[in-house]
Amino acid sequence: ENTEDKLLMKISCQDNPPSDKITVVGVGSVGVAVAFAIVSQNISNNIVLVDADQKRLCGERLDLQQGSTFKGNYKIEACTDYTKTACSKVCVITAGVRQKPEESRLKLVQRNADIMKEMIPKLVKYSPDTTLLLVTNPVDVMSYVSWKISGLPNNKVFGSGTHLDSSRFRFFLSEKFGVSPCQCHGYIVGEHGDSSVALWSSVNVAGVRLRELNPKAGTDEDDEKWADIHKKVVRGAYEVIKLKGYTSWAIGLTAASIVNSILRRAPHCQTVSINAKGLYGISEDLYLSLPALINSNGISHVVKKNLDCEEQDKLMKSAKTLEEIQKSVKI
Ligand code: 2OP
Repeated sequence: ENTEDKLLMKISCQDNPPSDKITVVGVGSVGVAVAFAIVSQNISNNIVLVDADQKRLCGERLDLQQGSTFKGNYKIEACTDYTKTACSKVCVITAGVRQKPEESRLKLVQRNADIMKEMIPKLVKYSPDTTLLLVTNPVDVMSYVSWKISGLPNNKVFGSGTHLDSSRFRFFLSEKFGVSPCQCHGYIVGEHGDSSVALWSSVNVAGVRLRELNPKAGTDEDDEKWADIHKKVVRGAYEVIKLKGYTSWAIGLTAASIVNSILRRAPHCQTVSINAKGLYGISEDLYLSLPALINSNGISHVVKKNLDCEEQDKLMKSAKTLEEIQKSVKI
């Protein structure tokens, strides 16, 4: 095994030619934030919005269209019946009920699974080669449900997962050090939710490993209490929901960055919710977040990080939590 193979586990081979049509299902605050992040960053100029609420759909489409003067000529279409979604490169699914203040994401499971059951077959009917990017919570279980229903290969069905938690983690690290989040590297894996796992052993800031400076960072024996930053990550969404009722901008940017990797074939390592069977000691078809590379064909590789014993242990606990919920959901 050469060094590249030690680092990366291949998931799929193909790298498909470009096409930039992006469907966003659900025009609540999250769907609109995703669409806005995509067009405002020139990731795609070809968006289709889908929602059951025709009036709101028209309102959001018109509002986005009326700003296109400032962003070149982007095309925003909208439909309630999925017809215009045909041949989408990516379908970003944000539709569903959301958490109330202090409600866990896991409480939403069956209600949102029922919504997936209705919408996924329609999306796949019109775009049989699409990649499904799940955002609806609980995102790990929704990714699993959608993979099951869609019949698509597992590299083409995945969730935004802890890519958002990793962003929160990097932001809080950047606040602490006063170094840009782009140069604070840290990964959160496992459930996008309360049992997520911070990989303290690989946190590095401007190329320096945190554990070189403080070997106990992130552990219970650490006097500096770095683990509190992970607690802030877990509380991140709860805090925002308490203040404004929902989260939208951070998840919008998170989903857009994943869409960017698919369209630009930019193999960034992102912690997304994938079928983890055969990876990191997981033997079932279970969706949770792991560091992965994404290209035009969806997940291309999983990065084989060395976890320390505590991290591996916590990942298994997170997997257990998700496994129970995943088994309970009626598909
Ligand atoms: C978030 O973490 C609620 O999952 C959503 O912002």
